[in-house]
Amino acid sequence: AMNTNMFENFAVQENIERLVLRGYSIVQPVEGELACGGCGGGRLAPLDVIFAEAKSLLSPQTELKGIRLLVTAGPTREAIDPVRYLTNYSSGKMGYAVAQAAVEQGAGVTLVSGPVTLPAPAGVKIVQVTTAQEMYAAVLSLYPQMDVVVKAAAVADYRPARVQETKIKKDGEMILSLVRTPDILAELGKYKQNQVLVGFASETDNLRENALAKLFPKNLEMIVANDLTEDGAGFNTDTNVVKLYFKDGQEKQLARMSKLAVAREIISEIKRIMNIAKEIS
Ligand code: CTP
Repeated sequence: AMNTNMFENFAVQENIERLVLRGYSIVQPVEGELACGGCGGGRLAPLDVIFAEAKSLLSPQTELKGIRLLVTAGPTREAIDPVRYLTNYSSGKMGYAVAQAAVEQGAGVTLVSGPVTLPAPAGVKIVQVTTAQEMYAAVLSLYPQMDVVVKAAAVADYRPARVQETKIKKDGEMILSLVRTPDILAELGKYKQNQVLVGFASETDNLRENALAKLFPKNLEMIVANDLTEDGAGFNTDTNVVKLYFKDGQEKQLARMSKLAVAREIISEIKRIMNIAKEIS
């Protein structure tokens, strides 16, 4: 707990995030009257909240014990020549948060990650990849052993038709010819046995329509859609604003919250989906 300006300072927020990524738990301060006489965020959380958090850490949840969950995160990189590549703005934060939220509940977590600068959450097995093709190969080979797959990675949809072996020199106009990469999630949907499949959709327009156009053709149980035009949503932010769409037609809007809090909501929905499946069988 501290003064609002101090708490919101970039350095403090970055340090908190680093601690979370190292596996520490944070009890966030709340809004209210502060010791300095002002009012705002940074006030010590109620003692019962701190007590409950400490108690749950001492007797960790094991609801996902025995469940094997694969998460993909980050961007992919598609080489043009030895010094250039195509990629996107994905930071990997959302996928890493999902891995953290799943391991917190006792799941066996494998994180297939594109090139990002984040440390892997404690207790997670990491597989590093660079290209969409490498991610495809890694995910498909692990798929049969998995109970749940969460595809948070922002996979490049196109790669250069050919990678130049030497650096391309500038010479007037340049046209780069691109070919499609495999749609990993669609492939998983095709070969699905009992796995719960969760996809992501990052959109700038027609959120619902675009999300549903991925949910059904890719044979998913749930899709996490975020509107990139909203404040505090999307790539490289620490927060996200998402709407969840389910196969059975349900929809759930989540408020703006930290990516870890969004990840915990996603994990709790996955548990609900798995419990329904268990009841049916
Ligand atoms: N995805 C994937 N392989 C690809 C492209 C996307 O596995 N080659 C997955 C993403 O990880 C995400 C979901 O499919 O979970 C949706 O990705 P997105 O890029 O939003 O949509 P696309 O299906 O690629 O469609 P478009 O780019 O036309 O919006």
